[in-house]
Amino acid sequence: MGRLIDGKQIAAQIRAELASEVEELTARGKRPPCLAVIWVGEDPASATYVRAKGKACQKIGMNFELHHLEEGISEKDLLKLIEELNNREEIDAMLVQLPLPKHISEKKVIEAIAPNKDADGFHPYNLGRLLIGAPTFIPCTPAGILELLKRSQIETVGKEVVVIGRSNIVGKPIAALLMQKNTGNATVTVCHTATKNLTFHTKRADILIVAAGQPKMIKAEMVKDGAVIIDVGIHRTEAGLCGDVDFKEVEPKVAAITPVPGGVGPMTVAMLLKNTVQAYKIRNNIVL
Ligand code: GUN
Repeated sequence: MGRLIDGKQIAAQIRAELASEVEELTARGKRPPCLAVIWVGEDPASATYVRAKGKACQKIGMNFELHHLEEGISEKDLLKLIEELNNREEIDAMLVQLPLPKHISEKKVIEAIAPNKDADGFHPYNLGRLLIGAPTFIPCTPAGILELLKRSQIETVGKEVVVIGRSNIVGKPIAALLMQKNTGNATVTVCHTATKNLTFHTKRADILIVAAGQPKMIKAEMVKDGAVIIDVGIHRTEAGLCGDVDFKEVEPKVAAITPVPGGVGPMTVAMLLKNTVQAYKIRNNIVL
């Protein structure tokens, strides 16, 4: 039976640590950190995420500023708002909830965010720093995976890590981080839709990270006995939520596995809060 990697509990611990940092700041007479979120349109999934982010900020005593814009807003006006937030002293970090309506360029929007206020770590400047191993804002999902591994005492040094998926926000950054000497020092293989023999690779993995976006695609025969499985997928089905891993089949074979829900998911909001507190500290020259 695989040990469950309890993302819910680890995320709660991180939020508690951040809450006491915020408390210490306010006890010193400083203002709490502030995250601004821009949400364009009415996408229902975005509504859920944005609400969760707001609640999480408030629960740890941070400020949260929501800018809900109508679907038809022009790209120019959106860029203008980002510029205003870039220039406002009391905004420490921001993000623009994705997806955006088709008439707005995601690339332009991400690049308009000041790199030192980039809560999501999506700006090319920050992703470039990540690639060279410099201190930066790490995108929330990869940052959450690193914390899950660290706080579950899962060794990565010299391990065979296989990542399935090559997105800019999960696959590529987690692969870069885990190969980097000080944040993983692992041997990393990245698989994607053109990979010829997926099972050949997944079977070799000591740590398998699945961010493929395919419900229950990882079956028992695809994993090595005693592997560690990190499931980044989240899919709504009639039977409830499931991940990219067939949990029921895979769990008995492995040493440890993240459940869905309750694994990687809860970590992302916790890491968003962490990035915001980090932005605050850097901008205000504060060491706690
Ligand atoms: N939409 C889905 N995931 C994310 C995320 O991590 N950041 C932003 N800004 N939008 C998202």
